[in-house]
Amino acid sequence: MSRFSKLFTAVAAAATLACATVAPAHAADSTDANSNSISVFYYSLNDLFINQLSAALQDRALANGIKLRQYDADDDLMRQVTQIQSALVINKDGAPIIVNPVDTQNGIAALRAARQSDVPIIFFNRMPSEEALASYEDAWYVGSNPANSGYYQAEIVQSYFEAHPEADRNKDGVISYVMLKGEPSHQDSRIRSNTFVRTMLENGIKIKPIASISANWSQTRAQNEISALADRDQLKQVELIVCNNDAMALGAINALQAEGYNIPNTPAGDHSKYIPVVGIDALPQALDAVERGTMIGTVLNDYTAVADVMMRITEAYLNGEQITDDLIGYQSRNHIVDVPYVKVTNENISEVR
Ligand code: BGC
Repeated sequence: MSRFSKLFTAVAAAATLACATVAPAHAADSTDANSNSISVFYYSLNDLFINQLSAALQDRALANGIKLRQYDADDDLMRQVTQIQSALVINKDGAPIIVNPVDTQNGIAALRAARQSDVPIIFFNRMPSEEALASYEDAWYVGSNPANSGYYQAEIVQSYFEAHPEADRNKDGVISYVMLKGEPSHQDSRIRSNTFVRTMLENGIKIKPIASISANWSQTRAQNEISALADRDQLKQVELIVCNNDAMALGAINALQAEGYNIPNTPAGDHSKYIPVVGIDALPQALDAVERGTMIGTVLNDYTAVADVMMRITEAYLNGEQITDDLIGYQSRNHIVDVPYVKVTNENISEVR
């Protein structure tokens, strides 16, 4: 039981919920110790998905009168460590902190610091080990099971090739693909890629990798990688581009379009200048791409739900309430909350908009 929960009083509850402003990102240097605020630490707000999640968190906090202090580590591990340490020093009443670690391994340092300060810690997006989470009773992880997103990508691809056999352009019965991967150390990157491949093989679909490239979740890097393939005249062999996230899918599509491929609303059935692209996240720009037909599908990585669950847990600590699956709204196991992914294609896009 955290210090905050133990010391909870009606006075604290009233004070905590009274404030409705949102502090700007890069707030790390501020010395304004405000006991009504919740601190949130992002690995990088340049990441399109994290940026979207941050906006959802701000909306959710504003709606419920919680002040957010947001810290952007800009992908710098040391900066995040310093940000967390400074924030814990000014966190006088032990309000929970929300952390998206720069490095999955590093989550443990944040966890230790929070435990030492008797402050609950809620992780998202990069999961510390289950052992690390279990070592502190006020540690949580809110996220989704990455295997399911790789599985859904395989389903999207399988249905697409069944409906469009002409997408196998050289008609050899094998799908030649490029995989654009996220950061090698990230659980989502490894598990999504492996599950996609395993599912295709288990379903008896023949696939052949042309290239498997880490573009580090980045739209620009993905664009450069696909342009480089085009420069080497390899695009002709590619029949599918599978991306660990939407940012990379959007980068790939930019590169393809520069080569005259995947032009919006090209006639269905003509695959001479069309390479199916699939992503994960359901960013608004990716949903637009699915609607325009430049991308065959994506998987909702439900940032609005993740933000909502993290705020529910935060509020429960602030109010001294017990945290149950009913309160969270999703199933949890050992303080790991599973927010389901949703497969998205043109058929159900209106449901996720
Ligand atoms: C998201 C990516 C994001 C990454 C950052 C993943 O879960 O799908 O879009 O870049 O997390 O850690």
